[in-house]
Amino acid sequence: MTKKIQICEVGPRDGFQSIKCAQIPTEQKIEIIEELLAAGVKHMEFTSFVSPKAIPQMADAADVTKAVLERHPDADLFALVPNLRGAANAYNLGLRKVCYVVSLSVSHNKANINRTHEQSLDAYREIRATYPDLDVIVDLATTFGCPFEGKYEDPAAVVAFLRDYVDAGMKAVCLCDTIGIADPAQVKAVIEAVKAAYPELHLGVHFHDTRGLGMVNTLTAMEAGVDEIQSTLGGLGGCPFAPGASGNLATEDAVWMLNEMGYDTGISFSKILAAAKHEKELIEGNYSGHHINIEQETPCRA
Ligand code: COA
Ligand code: ZN
Repeated sequence: MTKKIQICEVGPRDGFQSIKCAQIPTEQKIEIIEELLAAGVKHMEFTSFVSPKAIPQMADAADVTKAVLERHPDADLFALVPNLRGAANAYNLGLRKVCYVVSLSVSHNKANINRTHEQSLDAYREIRATYPDLDVIVDLATTFGCPFEGKYEDPAAVVAFLRDYVDAGMKAVCLCDTIGIADPAQVKAVIEAVKAAYPELHLGVHFHDTRGLGMVNTLTAMEAGVDEIQSTLGGLGGCPFAPGASGNLATEDAVWMLNEMGYDTGISFSKILAAAKHEKELIEGNYSGHHINIEQETPCRA
């Protein structure tokens, strides 16, 4: 039987937002998104509706959305939103799926979206109540540790935090290792605890590659039974409000490994590699992906 896993590309959001010194032209962002879809990517976080003061790189979210939705109305495309206003902007442009971000860490939640946990939960409920037909998945940032508070040792804290969101109707959550601090033993423990407490949740993981553990953490999470893994083209990425955050697990590396292992990723390695090389050319000089095997034409099956 073919093994399946959902690969969710988040480079056009997490990757592009990490480029601070130059605005990537909107057409180039759209070009990369098109190449990702052409390579077989089926799930993608492609922009964010956030304050342009917080993340100037995402100021063209509306233009990117219009272009992409018009050409791919049926693809699983979604945008990150930090508040009701972001959700309204996304909804009014026709998006029916967003990702709402909240951090397990109180201090990162404050640094990233300027909220307490209570305010974040209220805003989540407000979005759900205002747009009942909007699919609101949740990104739990700093699930495994925080740039200000250090590593989290107790999986029970993740389970406890998610309780209010599950009660408020959350169907899908992505556990994000925002600064790349997780280790495989911790990943296994957290996933097992969350799955035991909320077996119905669609569970995703999102790893940064600070210590080169993006791949092994991802594979560990898959073995523990997650439904979705997130990665970025070229390994580009990092939250500007998390000091020390580095690039993400690189999509082309994940695709190579999973195709070789016999997973039906639906993504062509040669096409995704070409997209990664093209991305690097386009934004050369501002490139933040530290984990780049783009030059490596590894022989493979797909
Ligand atoms: N889209 C666009 N602009 C927005 C916005 C949204 N969703 N939400 C707020 N703004 C604008 C406000 O109009 C205001 O603009 P002004 O100063 O010109 O009047 C400004 O942003 C600040 O708004 P305010 O409501 O006072 O929020 P804040 O300063 O407390 O910031 C957030 C809160 C959530 C808007 C901001 O921290 C943010 O956008 N964070 C996103 C961070 C992020 O994307 N991190 C990486 C992903 S994990
Ligand atoms: Zn990230």
